[in-house]
Amino acid sequence: MIYLDNAATSYPKPEPVYRRVDEVLRHVGGNPGRGSHRMALSAGRVIFEVRESIARLLNIKDSGRVAFTKNATESINLALKGLLKSGDHVVTTAIEHNAVVNTIKALEKKGIKATMVGMGENGTIEPKEIDDAVGKNTRLVCITHASNVLGTILPVGDVGAICHRKGVPLMVDVAQTVGAVPIDVETMNIDILAGTGHKALFGPQGTGFLYIREGIDIPPLIDGGTGEVGESMDIPERLESGTINTPGIGGLGAGVEFLMKEGVIRVREYEENLIGRIIDELNGIKSISIIGTLDASKRVSLVSFNIADRDPGEIGYILDNEFGIMTRSGLHCAPSAHRAAGTYPGGSVRVSPGYFNSVSDIEEFIGVVRKIARRV
Ligand SMILES: Cc1ncc(COP(=O)(O)O)c(C=O)c1O
Repeated sequence: MIYLDNAATSYPKPEPVYRRVDEVLRHVGGNPGRGSHRMALSAGRVIFEVRESIARLLNIKDSGRVAFTKNATESINLALKGLLKSGDHVVTTAIEHNAVVNTIKALEKKGIKATMVGMGENGTIEPKEIDDAVGKNTRLVCITHASNVLGTILPVGDVGAICHRKGVPLMVDVAQTVGAVPIDVETMNIDILAGTGHKALFGPQGTGFLYIREGIDIPPLIDGGTGEVGESMDIPERLESGTINTPGIGGLGAGVEFLMKEGVIRVREYEENLIGRIIDELNGIKSISIIGTLDASKRVSLVSFNIADRDPGEIGYILDNEFGIMTRSGLHCAPSAHRAAGTYPGGSVRVSPGYFNSVSDIEEFIGVVRKIARRV
């Protein structure tokens, strides 16, 4: 069995992640922010330490600006629905995930206007087009850091410089990049960052977070609170209504610590080598078309492709059922990106190696794809 669907969720997780989930569930046990007994305090410490780890990874100065959510989709909803009001204008791109596309569609029904900047060459976007799209009512620029279909890493730093100059906040969906490429919210001028825990940060599913720069206020999506007298209802707790996923967040912390110990750059180099091999080999097969850039250094660790006009779902099925290789096929929750790439409505097969894949996994995958491509 070879797992090559890390862009959907990473598997396996590093050993310390499994251990930490078990440890928190078994030995910490209490409810963070609910009560002052030792187990509740220990749980609060777990949450605090993970906020600190995430802040360190992303160069966030105040870890209190990091709120935990259950995934990037919740983070995106929280930020967009909290920030945008009727009459506001938002600039986004044509290659966003449905988490952004559908949230903005819902907001458009409430009087928010959106401009979608088109896809440029090789799956990127042109910062100048974002610059041109920003108008006097623009309340936010919201872009992905890398589309989960195209994989191209977008020039967030350049867009950040434009937004900073124009005084418009920049929100970035880093679901595909957090942990996979270096991110610095200060130098990249990122004001709001929506992240997920279960992909390149190696955390369990059900973990995500939202960073909000100081000075930006976002109301909660779900009302509630800790119920303590004199409690702080400031961010981050104000955005984390109800009991949060302490064991999952503990596991996420172990994932982030593992990643920082290995080094984001080292993980990136390792994955870039795997993805480079896939691109080189698949690009040499006549019936295969690769979506997006052929330059591995400009991609996160995923490649979407098609074999002639064959159904990607069928290819994915053959890969798994005949050869035990798990990839993802279809529209990948991002039909807009497929429209932009010209692969709608069929979609593509997407292969996404992770840090725990070996070179021989990749060679086996390539050999199998060659075999499938030869079948008519
Ligand atoms: C670019 C992008 N944005 C958002 C999401 C949604 O992430 P989550 O499943 O954590 O909500 C994904 C997930 O694949 C993604 O790839």
